[in-house]
Amino acid sequence: MTDLAALEADLLARIAAAPAAAALEAVRLEALGKSGVVSALLKSLGAMSPDERRVQGPQINGLRDRIAAAIAERRSVLEDAELDARLAAGRLDLSLPAPPRRKGAVHPTMQVMDEMIAIFAEMGFALAEGPDIEDDFHNFTALNFPPRHPAREMHDTFFLQPGPDGEQKLLRTHTSPIQIRVMRKGNAEVGAPQFEPYRAPPIRIIGPGRVYRCDSDATHTPMFHQMEGLVIDRDIHMGHLKWTLDQFIARFFELEGVVTRFRPHHFPFTEPSAEMDVQCDRSAGQIRIGEGDDWLEILGGGMVHPNIIRNCGLDPDQWQGFAFGLGVDRLAALKYGMPDLRDMFASDTRWLAHYGFSAFAAPNPATGLS
Ligand code: PHE
Repeated sequence: MTDLAALEADLLARIAAAPAAAALEAVRLEALGKSGVVSALLKSLGAMSPDERRVQGPQINGLRDRIAAAIAERRSVLEDAELDARLAAGRLDLSLPAPPRRKGAVHPTMQVMDEMIAIFAEMGFALAEGPDIEDDFHNFTALNFPPRHPAREMHDTFFLQPGPDGEQKLLRTHTSPIQIRVMRKGNAEVGAPQFEPYRAPPIRIIGPGRVYRCDSDATHTPMFHQMEGLVIDRDIHMGHLKWTLDQFIARFFELEGVVTRFRPHHFPFTEPSAEMDVQCDRSAGQIRIGEGDDWLEILGGGMVHPNIIRNCGLDPDQWQGFAFGLGVDRLAALKYGMPDLRDMFASDTRWLAHYGFSAFAAPNPATGLS
């Protein structure tokens, strides 16, 4: 006769000691499997006399239940431990540095373009645009360039292959053709059929965009950005131009007393003409504004030549105006201290990460524009 108490004690000890699911399963088969010891005991009940079975039955069934319960309990303990082990093995090591996350940035030229637009918009200027691929008429002829002006020659201008009609287009060398496009559209006064009535004087526009010249050094890139300004009204004079630019410079640099100078110059489309320089220092490998004894040319401007007004169908005795072309990249370099303009368009993401701006910068409190 089997010692049930000793058998139970032995099985319970081995169940409790089973180190893993496989060992526990072996004990289960040994006890409760088809030919297990407890199964054999249960089977033996059938051969017993009723009296014997009455005594042995509850004992053997109780043994089977307690062993099954112990196995179930041990299994859940082992499963929990296994899960804990797997979690521990796969856990994130939070002490490791996070992988770098590449973030885009707003190019300083675009940032400065927005700043400039905001300032001029506040002064009442509207936005105008023109195409990068221009024709000779808008880029040169209508702007009073004499037929053999050196700026038309190959060393300054990128010309395109002539089209099927023989017309040779070019990459605009400045934003001044925007003046012509605005004014020729805008001549309601003359009403000549070749002009689409669009914007009659008074005209007050800025025209930002890319321009192209065959030129490359620390202060010249073959592609750069300008912002054209044009005001056409009655009784406009050079003082209006100077005031407008002084206002702009003070607002743009957020600096008291930025020193600028007007130098007499020549443009075929303005008379008189001037260039404006900003005082700067280039000695420390950076362009610093408002220091030093160096100058950086940032714009050309002047009074719109009567021929231009006439070319656009307006009477120059009635309408005068001023125009200017600002160098956007140069203003960005001056304001944010970039030493070499060529870096701006080298597409080096390290440069952009350093000099770029967040796309979600706080809006300009003065204008509400970002
Ligand atoms: N278009 C001239 C340039 O590119 C600048 C300019 C604009 C000058 C308007 C006078 C008036 O240099």
